Amino acid sequence: ATTSAGGGAGPEQGHARAGGVRDGSGTPLGAERLAEIGLRFEVDGEIATVSLDRPERRNAQTFATWSALARIGRTLPDQVRVVVVRGEGPSFSAGIDLRMFTPEGVPGEGSFATVAGLPDEEADRRIAEAQEGFLWLRRPDIVSVAAVQGHAIGAGFQLALACDLRVLADDASFRMKEPALGLVPDLTGTKPLVELVGVARAVEICLTARAVGAEEALRLGLAHAVVPRDELSAATAELAGALLATDRAAATATKRLLQEAPGRTLAEQCAAERAAQAVRIRALAGGGAAGPAA
Ligand code: CAA
Repeated sequence: ATTSAGGGAGPEQGHARAGGVRDGSGTPLGAERLAEIGLRFEVDGEIATVSLDRPERRNAQTFATWSALARIGRTLPDQVRVVVVRGEGPSFSAGIDLRMFTPEGVPGEGSFATVAGLPDEEADRRIAEAQEGFLWLRRPDIVSVAAVQGHAIGAGFQLALACDLRVLADDASFRMKEPALGLVPDLTGTKPLVELVGVARAVEICLTARAVGAEEALRLGLAHAVVPRDELSAATAELAGALLATDRAAATATKRLLQEAPGRTLAEQCAAERAAQAVRIRALAGGGAAGPAA
């Protein structure tokens, strides 16, 4: 059954809140409100799909987009294990809505001029709220997959980087355009970019603000797979299904171990593996888990 509304707090809600959600709202946004913002949210069993749905503006993003993404994360139904992030139309996302750079801004949302006038703490809070829309995609209890076609620029590139995996159509290209516009990438993208390609390549990509095509993205480790444009949906669905093959508790503990590995010494990581495995062994012995996947 497919539904457009979420509900219930996932097991990693505390993690999702890291960074500070300020509005405290835990109720899902309705499909109508999401449509006004240019988003769709659908749940089919254990797979949720978030669609950027403003193709006439190439899925450009605003503060409302980020706030709604954060709300989707906070209200993700418990049963969801895989989240697919995709875009309607020719491009995944053309990044921030360029009207933000005009004095008039985006109706109802202000502009950069509004943020520029805020005291430091308030400006920090506004950006932290925007980042919240991206952070939850890393939760250990879910796996997020970006399905990218056409352009993924600025905030679009960073949204794809916020996901665990990226499946690219052969016409996809990434571009970190922020420095060319006088900004820094601030939507959680710098860390995964460096982790995937290293500091030197990240500097080159960001400071030239050049486009990275699909084949290069695959070579650099920015893409999990590149497929023909008309096979993107099917390839993403196949990957999403394959990610459900493992026991959920084991998958969550494994993703957490993998995420935390770069920040640990080998000895610390070995200790973390032992601790996590002891929990799994006890759960299996006690019949508290599904047991080895078929
Ligand atoms: N904001 C608002 N509207 C946008 C938009 C954006 N970022 N990108 C495209 N659009 C609109 C265009 O104005 C156009 O509208 P009209 O039909 O009313 O003229 C419509 O979408 C279609 O655009 P194009 O005709 O340009 O479509 P295309 O497929 O030929 O090109 C594109 C697509 C390469 C993405 C091109 O539109 C483009 O370069 N867009 C701007 C990209 C950009 O500079 N984004 C900012 C990145 S930096 C960032 O995101 C900052 C941050 O995180 C803080």
